[in-house]
Amino acid sequence: MAKRKLQSKRILLTGASSGIGYALAQQLVAAGNDILVVARREQRLISLQEATNECTGTIHCLAGDITSGDFRAEMIHWVDTNWDSTLDVLINNAGIGSHQAFADSKPEYLRQIMDVNVIAPLELIRGHLQQLRRGQSPAICNVGSVLGHVALPGNSEYCASKFALHGFSDALRAELSNEQIDVVLVSPSTTRTEFFDSLLAGPQAGKSDKGMSVQVVARKIVRAIEKGTRESILSWKALLGVWQDRIFPSLTSRQLASWYHRNSK
Ligand SMILES: NC(=O)c1ccc[n+]([C@@H]2O[C@H](COP(=O)([O-])OP(=O)(O)OC[C@H]3O[C@@H](n4cnc5c(N)ncnc54)[C@H](OP(=O)(O)O)[C@@H]3O)[C@@H](O)[C@H]2O)c1
Repeated sequence: MAKRKLQSKRILLTGASSGIGYALAQQLVAAGNDILVVARREQRLISLQEATNECTGTIHCLAGDITSGDFRAEMIHWVDTNWDSTLDVLINNAGIGSHQAFADSKPEYLRQIMDVNVIAPLELIRGHLQQLRRGQSPAICNVGSVLGHVALPGNSEYCASKFALHGFSDALRAELSNEQIDVVLVSPSTTRTEFFDSLLAGPQAGKSDKGMSVQVVARKIVRAIEKGTRESILSWKALLGVWQDRIFPSLTSRQLASWYHRNSK
């Protein structure tokens, strides 16, 4: 049974200018929610707003970089001013990746990935917590990855960031359990988005043609938030991989290492 219906809610969504975030915004505004969408590419956000202006809900755009403390303060101020300091749902979706052997990577990539995928979402939660406490059946949704459950060689920095988000979500869920604020961790596997075109290193041509569709992923995310699911791995294949890793960790490590060395020759 649903714990909340995502309808007429005040929702803050990061990373809405493309991919999963864009599809999520479309579905949430069609369901009649009031959404503040955030990303750096302002024109993309405006196009999203224009494309959905017939919907029952409303989209508000705020363009900026979530790794900037000043911009995060602007987001908090926006909610204070426009939504009477009240937020029902915070969705931390913005994320970046890199695909390269750690030995060949650069310190600035590690820092950038951790800043966008870990520090920014955690600081957004800290900054908006008081507003969420005033919300209607409030929830925080962190978009992780199946690589936050099973570590894939060649993606070490991204895995580090998504494992961090996973661990943080588990700890915070327990801390907030007596305040009825749900912490939902959703973990997509490969999804057809621009994610692979904007990797910091090792672009994989054609990769974005494979995987789940953004509409399916967005629908599953909405359902997980509505149910208040603690952890949702969004594909059966990924779920099997996660269970294999939990039950047979050494076997899984050996298989992944041999797959990696075969493919990186
Ligand atoms: N695609 C996959 O296969 C896959 C699989 C598992 C998990 N995920 C996760 O799903 C989430 C969404 O990714 P996606 O696949 O939809 O990728 P995407 O199409 O590349 O979207 C990423 C979004 O994050 C925003 N973003 C990146 N850096 C930002 C920053 N510094 N400040 C503000 N916004 C920023 C981008 O907007 P701007 O560039 O306009 O700022 C964009 O809207 C990510 O957390 C990703 O790790 C994706």
